[in-house]
Amino acid sequence: MKIKQAVIPVAGKGTRFLPATKEIPKEMIPIIDIPMIHYIVQEAIDSGIEQIVFVNSSHKESIENYFDRNYALEKFLEANNKHKELELIQKIGNLVEIVSVRQKEQLGLGHAILATDRLIGKNNFAVLLGDDLIKGAEPCTKQLMKVSETYGDRPVIGIMDVPKDDVSKYGIIDGTFMEGDKQTVLMKDMIEKPLPSKTPTTWATPGRYILSSDIFEYLKRIKRGAGDEYQLTDAINLMCKSGPVYAHFFTGRRYDTGNIFGYFEATLNFALADLRLKNYASDLIKKLAKDL
Ligand code: G1P
Repeated sequence: MKIKQAVIPVAGKGTRFLPATKEIPKEMIPIIDIPMIHYIVQEAIDSGIEQIVFVNSSHKESIENYFDRNYALEKFLEANNKHKELELIQKIGNLVEIVSVRQKEQLGLGHAILATDRLIGKNNFAVLLGDDLIKGAEPCTKQLMKVSETYGDRPVIGIMDVPKDDVSKYGIIDGTFMEGDKQTVLMKDMIEKPLPSKTPTTWATPGRYILSSDIFEYLKRIKRGAGDEYQLTDAINLMCKSGPVYAHFFTGRRYDTGNIFGYFEATLNFALADLRLKNYASDLIKKLAKDL
């Protein structure tokens, strides 16, 4: 089954990036000169997604505007012979179809996903959370789509191994490896942010999911969970008890850009991979390191 829609929740307040997020949505903060949300949307497009569904809240229209055309700016660039820049911003305005729904109250990730119920209908869909950037030879979402197809179009959750002390930041899964597939696990349980002393495994999701539309039924059934919020994890936990749900160890390097440390690490690494900045960045790092 070809998956055409990706849900990207962007309604959060971004308090870990205050004061910048007082006026700018966290998703619009750039790594070098590209907003973080652009990388997430690009991963979806590179995985074959044709429509992005943002779950948005008030005062965050700039995310939708970014992916729209800006005719005034285009006219200005044209009049000033800035053809390269014109081409660049036109391309972003035509990247992909964007639709959005409003999450009127912030009651958790499960609540945000449930808001897309009518837009998704009966289709399988991808979910990408914006706090993690994953860079690899093949987009993470594409890898999960392939696993889903292999196992009868069933849901697949992207996972990675994390240090035990970090499990309480994530949805953690438990299960057993599939025969002959060392990267894929048949899920038995999914627990939101367990204590390190209580966790069954250290297999964590950084927020990449392939889901089937019956998730909405489970989302309607769950009660408030960790953090007193409606958790997507709790709905997936119910779902994996009624039919096969898989978790897959994706390949690729992941940056936790949801906090300033991961954001800084991503910025340094992206500069070192950027042809315009590569030499400058490595010379600068060496120079600064000498003075430490
Ligand atoms: C959310 C999910 C969690 C997941 C994490 C990945 O938590 O609830 O299961 O592991 O994203 O970033 P949050 O970080 O929004 O608290």
